Amino acid sequence: MNRNRMDTHQKLTIGLFGFGVVGEGLYKVMQQTPSLNASIKKVCIKNAGKKRNAPASLFTTDRSVLLNDPEINVIVEVINESGPAFEIVSTALKNGKAIVSASKKMIAEHLQEILDLQIKYDQPFLYESAACASIPVIRNLEEYYDNDLLHSMRAIVNGSTNFILTKMFEDKLDFKQALVLAQQMGFAEADPSLDVEGFDAVNKWTFLLTHAYGIVGKPGDIVFTGIQNIQAGDAAVAKEKNFQIKLVAQAKKLNNGKVAAFVLPQFVKSDDPLAFVKNEFNGVVIESGFADNQFFYGKGAGSFPTASAVLSDISALRYHYRYEYKKLYHHNPHQLSNDIYVKVYVSFDDWKFVPREKFEWIEEWHAESDRKYLVGVMPFAELKENSWWKENNTSLILAPEPIIEDIEIRKLKKKSLELAGILD
Ligand code: HSE
Repeated sequence: MNRNRMDTHQKLTIGLFGFGVVGEGLYKVMQQTPSLNASIKKVCIKNAGKKRNAPASLFTTDRSVLLNDPEINVIVEVINESGPAFEIVSTALKNGKAIVSASKKMIAEHLQEILDLQIKYDQPFLYESAACASIPVIRNLEEYYDNDLLHSMRAIVNGSTNFILTKMFEDKLDFKQALVLAQQMGFAEADPSLDVEGFDAVNKWTFLLTHAYGIVGKPGDIVFTGIQNIQAGDAAVAKEKNFQIKLVAQAKKLNNGKVAAFVLPQFVKSDDPLAFVKNEFNGVVIESGFADNQFFYGKGAGSFPTASAVLSDISALRYHYRYEYKKLYHHNPHQLSNDIYVKVYVSFDDWKFVPREKFEWIEEWHAESDRKYLVGVMPFAELKENSWWKENNTSLILAPEPIIEDIEIRKLKKKSLELAGILD
């Protein structure tokens, strides 16, 4: 039984860590929502010298002023650094405070510890804004989808890379210009390589897998890359085939009861809902047992969209909402599996960089241009075990519907088509 539960009339007195894009956004949003009966008592910042758009008396650089104030019953933590964020969260939980966090890196890296701390100190820890910002994806995964219903999820979970891809391929900006714009608009991480190289997306995918399938893993367990290797030639091929290139996080429940998951660039067909997701928007397509496909869409980065999700978590504390981690604690949690085959497009400078013997079969190869490419099927485990596919200027993009489970059947079908002279 939780002895520290807030009653619904209790005022929420907030200690805020961080006053960057999200922290300042929250401050402004809260000024416009007086009905919430919540107020920010103190804000802890790192850099005291920086000019802030709020009264100086609100700020401190001393963590303990917030963490040890008995009147502060909610800590909102929206700082960049994962290590200090985890220290703040651990101390706050220990001190009996509810927490709202947007620190996706910290949550992904300390997932098991965070689960343990929540049990130990029996306090709510909410982080809807940490994945897909304004889209309430965590609460939907928690509350709506029973384990058996959730067949697969495909999502764009990083706004900056989606913004850069849109600006490059539709507005013809170059990569650098597009990235600078994403930084100026407050979408990118302080270290933008976290966005560009896929770290931010895989961090988010790590804990979304917990809410979807009860998987508690590390970001490093999931095969991922970002958009750093995508070449102009890849965009030309995509255009030819009427595809778009997106950084897609995907998870699928397999026939063996396990879950395949990855975050990789993917060719997306023009009628795929994810093709509709442009700029800093995010999108999640959920395939469920009986409802077929459902599509969630909204802004995935930026000050107010992220602050709105933080605000919704603060508000949820009023009615004692907390994650139950149903798929983990009330169902049989799933495990990750690499036991699938994937259809991939690989473009490269030289054949010597591509181990052709690793492919089950190759469907297309184009060696006539400077930028050569092939389309073929390979064991997914190859991507986990080796890294040739992201080295030497090589670019790997998944085909639409890339997952193949029934490889032997596919092989037989292909053979019979070949015998019938339909394929060469
Ligand atoms: N850098 C992140 C993104 C911010 O671009 O998606 C939102 O988490």
